[in-house]
Amino acid sequence: MQIGRGFALKQLNARRAVVITDTTVEKLYGSSIDIPLFSFPAGEASKTREMKQFLEDQLLSHGFGRETCIIALGGGVVSDLAGFVASTFCRGAPLILIPTTLLAMVDAAIGGKTGVNTAHGKNLIGSFYPADEIWIDTLFLETLPHDERKNGMVEVIKYGLIASQELFDELLTGSLSDEEMIARSAAIKQEIVDQDPYEKKGVRRVLNFGHTLGHALEKLSDYTLPHGRAVAIGMLAAAEIGNQMGITPPSVRPKIEEIMARYGVSLRSPPISSEALMTTLKHDKKSASGEVRFVLLKQIGEVQPFDGAYCCPVPEEMIRCLLHQVV
Ligand SMILES: NC(=O)c1ccc[n+]([C@@H]2O[C@H](COP(=O)([O-])OP(=O)(O)OC[C@H]3O[C@@H](n4cnc5c(N)ncnc54)[C@H](O)[C@@H]3O)[C@@H](O)[C@H]2O)c1
Ligand SMILES: [Zn+2]
Repeated sequence: MQIGRGFALKQLNARRAVVITDTTVEKLYGSSIDIPLFSFPAGEASKTREMKQFLEDQLLSHGFGRETCIIALGGGVVSDLAGFVASTFCRGAPLILIPTTLLAMVDAAIGGKTGVNTAHGKNLIGSFYPADEIWIDTLFLETLPHDERKNGMVEVIKYGLIASQELFDELLTGSLSDEEMIARSAAIKQEIVDQDPYEKKGVRRVLNFGHTLGHALEKLSDYTLPHGRAVAIGMLAAAEIGNQMGITPPSVRPKIEEIMARYGVSLRSPPISSEALMTTLKHDKKSASGEVRFVLLKQIGEVQPFDGAYCCPVPEEMIRCLLHQVV
């Protein structure tokens, strides 16, 4: 792989390039990279302020300055962390993202959000710093473990549910190549982000479909429940809530069950107390004064706009009742 040389660098006003990646991706692809490479231990636990500082010090001690293009090679952890490094390195360095997981190709690399986790919660410190270029090559998916692929597939299915009935139907029949599926998903996310690049209006909330309950389940399982499965359960629950509120047609829930079965995504959740879940839900970023708010579907391919808020308060009793059904 020849990366970071020639045309792209000149175009980005950079003279040098470095790759930032994690140790797993380095083992798989590092030997074919012939520019300086800095890596950190793979996994969410590395997405910290301390690791950002460590990488910055590495770059500086090796003499890299503002003419350096940062190439983030890896999954969402790498794009979030290296993107955040790029956003403040010498007040902003050119950034190229090369996502290597399906989730990063369709989600984390698109939309300009970067960041790290803190003891107070995930992604609380970060910046909006869209990459100058995003290079997507589906060859990376050949080494991706099956469970990691499922995390990305759930986001792809989410795009069908919130924005394209056609995509959803094609996913059900399995008629799309990886290239087509990724291009369509990335385009849907980009189109939504373009309407609200700094998340100041409500429209970007549609991307959170299934994530209200999903994030709470992930947290309460101590992150043993994979993101994809948590969001899949969250989307199922949102379909049922929408149905009970007369907003989502009753046919949507079985369709979600069908597509998750098709892609081998289990909708079972580990046992979680509904009390703890309610408390966590009330801390969701969409919650206003203790009211829990959900993104709901009008139909497959369309979110209910709720006057531009794109989410609506759901009575606590309804959520509690539903938790007994889905969780
Ligand atoms: N910025 C955003 O808008 C945004 C959106 C969604 C998710 N995220 C973030 O993305 C992160 C999750 O991303 P992820 O699911 O890609 O996780 P990840 O980056 O941890 O990658 C998952 C695992 O796969 C390995 N891996 C990566 N590419 C591989 C390949 N080609 N072959 C084999 N193994 C490979 C990684 O080393 C890691 O162990 C979270 O931190 C989340 O907060 C950010
Ligand atoms: Zn997600």
